[in-house]
Amino acid sequence: METLKKNPAKKSDSPMPKEKTFRADNENGKITSGEHLPVWFSSPVPNMDYGKLDHNIDTDILVIGGGIAGLTTAYCLAKEGRKVVLVEDGFIGSGETGRTTAHLTCALDDRYYELEKKFDVQTSKLAAESHSAAIAWIKETVKQNNIECHFKTVDGYLFLDPTDKKENLQLELEATQRAGLKTELLKQVPSLQAEPGKSCIRFPQQGQFHILLYLKGLADAFIKAGGKIFTESKAENISKEGATANEFTIKANHIVVATNTPVNDWVVMHTKQWPYRTYVIAATVPKGKLPYALWWDTGNQDSKWITKPYHYVRLEEYNDEYDVLISGGEDHRTGQADTEQINEEDRYIALDAWTRLHFPDIGSILYQWSGQVMEPIDSLAYIGKNPGDDNIYIITGDSGNGMTHGTLGGLIIKDIITGKENPWIDMYNPSRISLNAAGDYVHETVNMLAQYTDWLTPEEIKQTDEIAPGQGGIISSEMKKLAVYRDEENHLHICSAVCPHLGAILQWNADERTFDCPLHGSRYTKLGKLINGPAISDLKELASSP
Ligand SMILES: Cc1cc2nc3c(=O)[nH]c(=O)nc-3n(C[C@H](O)[C@H](O)[C@H](O)COP(=O)(O)OP(=O)(O)OC[C@H]3O[C@@H](n4cnc5c(N)ncnc54)[C@H](O)[C@@H]3O)c2cc1C
Ligand code: FES
Repeated sequence: METLKKNPAKKSDSPMPKEKTFRADNENGKITSGEHLPVWFSSPVPNMDYGKLDHNIDTDILVIGGGIAGLTTAYCLAKEGRKVVLVEDGFIGSGETGRTTAHLTCALDDRYYELEKKFDVQTSKLAAESHSAAIAWIKETVKQNNIECHFKTVDGYLFLDPTDKKENLQLELEATQRAGLKTELLKQVPSLQAEPGKSCIRFPQQGQFHILLYLKGLADAFIKAGGKIFTESKAENISKEGATANEFTIKANHIVVATNTPVNDWVVMHTKQWPYRTYVIAATVPKGKLPYALWWDTGNQDSKWITKPYHYVRLEEYNDEYDVLISGGEDHRTGQADTEQINEEDRYIALDAWTRLHFPDIGSILYQWSGQVMEPIDSLAYIGKNPGDDNIYIITGDSGNGMTHGTLGGLIIKDIITGKENPWIDMYNPSRISLNAAGDYVHETVNMLAQYTDWLTPEEIKQTDEIAPGQGGIISSEMKKLAVYRDEENHLHICSAVCPHLGAILQWNADERTFDCPLHGSRYTKLGKLINGPAISDLKELASSP
């Protein structure tokens, strides 16, 4: 008997007002890593296709991955006069960078007072300094290369979630000031509909931009500096000699793996970070109603997740009449939405309600999408030499600060490769040991192990014919777990539901129409094609109905 795991979440019967949300014709994840198109893909979308690799190459530096981390690294090294080649398996920006909300901030989402506990005041100072430097570097790079990407210097406002303790805002204010930031307490949150006297911390000199326009500008600047980009060129067989792509060889002295989560079966990194899914809506606001600024709350402290989901909001230019308010949040561990009884799609409804309460001037929702962030065990990204390797480097563990962490990745790896001193190398070293984060480590590891119990628990039973066209599910067939997708023409596509990385059972994500791994975050299209690692292969295809 074939069985389908039912999603226990209750569907809301109050649909959001939607003018249009776009789905990508994106079967191989080459445009973006989900089916909902983020607002950045509204026209005119820059051309992110740089041609496929079709010959063998000998280079000094190979960068793998065309997101903000890879492109920044490639650009920085090319500017130093090094010979650099970048390969990207989709188009530029097709990973999580294209799904970001692009706040450029030094207001770290894990709080400075926590960083002091996990490390010390000196590390907290270095973190503040490094993220501020990343914002300043982006601003300068935009200026130097005349990149038209709506870059703006803005204020950011951090305010308490109702579940958080009042004293925590004061703790954070003091910790940010010890870290050297010019923060101040405001008695009211600017432009936010909130009860009188709701105070906030103001972070000056933050930034925002249009991420795809920025990436396009950076890619073109990299090429102008002598670099080469190949898109639709997936790096395989990565080793200290280089890699292959499209069956051609790329020989290199240094290999930078900037694939968001490292894509080889290197055992260490996926035990130091955990994947979370986060949701975004973009709604119209009449121009002039709200200022360009960043707003964040401190997160739902009652949440079951180690990384407390918080709301993050900003404004972006849209057309002559409207801006769009981009509001994100409602996170959960990848593939585990239903353990909170709120399925992926209903998270947009919760986000819509929260956003309208705090920003009542918003109109229709134009876009909605979700994406994945890698949460490191101790709040800081992992940037530097891959543990155990001398000439392979990684940039991962970005958390919700991946714009600045990714940029720092480029700045730091450039300095390591060119032998320059850099005060941030040690703190971001992927081999660091984080003793003070041991409690979180145990909690997340228990969660990981629990994912294997899907092999054992009895499930509710459903026939494959209960899968509607355009939907998928996980089916039990005898002792096997199957990832089944029924296409719009009613054909069934059946793959193994066992993640090729380390064997966890995948979950169907009905919202982005992907199969997601709850263990380390590998994701696959509805037809079983790999979208992102740490796995390196597609799902095993078992059958397709005619
Ligand atoms: C919804 C959302 C909102 C966010 N908001 C913010 C924010 O406001 N501010 C902030 O600082 N951060 C934010 N983040 C985090 C930030 O966007 C990411 O951390 C960052 O974009 C990651 O960049 P990256 O270059 O490491 O990865 P990616 O952009 O994922 O790039 C990796 C690239 O590698 C490619 N690749 C993978 N495997 C291979 C291979 N074998 N060969 C070749 N190429 C390969 C992929 O196709 C991909 O394009 C957000 C993230 C999400 C999902
Ligand atoms: S990503 Fe590691 S088991 Fe799936």
